[in-house]
Amino acid sequence: MNIPAERWYQAVFQRHSRRQFNKKALPENIVNDLLLIQEELNGHLPGSRIVFKNQDPDAIFSGAIGSYGKIKDAPTYAAFIGDMRDPNVQEKVGYLGECFILEATAMGLATCWVGGFFRPEIVAEQIKIESYEKVLSVTPVGFTDSSYSLTEKMMSGMVGSKKRKPLTELYVSEAEYPVWVQSALEAGRLAPSAVNRQPWRFFIENNSIKVTTDAEKGIADKSNISKRLDCGIAMAHIEIAALKNGVIGQWQYLLNPDVAIFKAK
Ligand SMILES: Cc1cc2nc3c(=O)[nH]c(=O)nc-3n(C[C@H](O)[C@H](O)[C@H](O)COP(=O)(O)O)c2cc1C
Repeated sequence: MNIPAERWYQAVFQRHSRRQFNKKALPENIVNDLLLIQEELNGHLPGSRIVFKNQDPDAIFSGAIGSYGKIKDAPTYAAFIGDMRDPNVQEKVGYLGECFILEATAMGLATCWVGGFFRPEIVAEQIKIESYEKVLSVTPVGFTDSSYSLTEKMMSGMVGSKKRKPLTELYVSEAEYPVWVQSALEAGRLAPSAVNRQPWRFFIENNSIKVTTDAEKGIADKSNISKRLDCGIAMAHIEIAALKNGVIGQWQYLLNPDVAIFKAK
């Protein structure tokens, strides 16, 4: 995949979940750019795909149980879809979806991963979903006012969205590690996760970073969203930061509770 490392690395720091949009329709050139991005990303990680819809997601969110995920007035959305026959479907959807989210962020658009409080059956009325596929998450896409609405503040406060665990809690390392690793860990740490649970742990050895889940707490939790999906998002951040530091590498998928290892070439 041709990753625009500098552009997406900046977006890692700019991105925050937004839930109150300002109803403004997306101009045609932006819609076309998003369709292009969708096209470019799809096919790179077989087992996962993105569908961008120039249609408001109101029906997808209305009636979904829970107050945490209230999304309002977004003009468009994207669905992140996985082939459930693929053993690595969760991390692939997380990785691919985050690439889309970071590009949207770089374009000045607001987004929010929504894995819980949406209605997949309504998405399936708007997008053709194969019998072996599942919509694992969606994101509203649109413009927001710069200030957060009261409800938004409440919701992000509820899950402590601004807080991230200190790196010392997230990595296990035997030795000193190079600058690219340091930068990759920091970017991984900033990844979004369901209810901000930050389920990733990083092990550093021999110029590589292994991502595992916090297995002691279980593979999923009451949110019913796989921690491997969150880890896939962190994997995208790690690779983007590595590339930004001039380090090319490759991911190798691993079995539970490990997720994958990034080996620098
Ligand atoms: C896989 C996934 C699922 C999520 N599901 C929801 C959701 O259902 N509703 C919601 O409001 N936010 C959802 N979020 C957003 C998280 O709450 C948010 O990313 C986290 O609190 C960190 O905040 P930030 O994105 O502003 O950095 C989800 C995030 C991820 C990665």
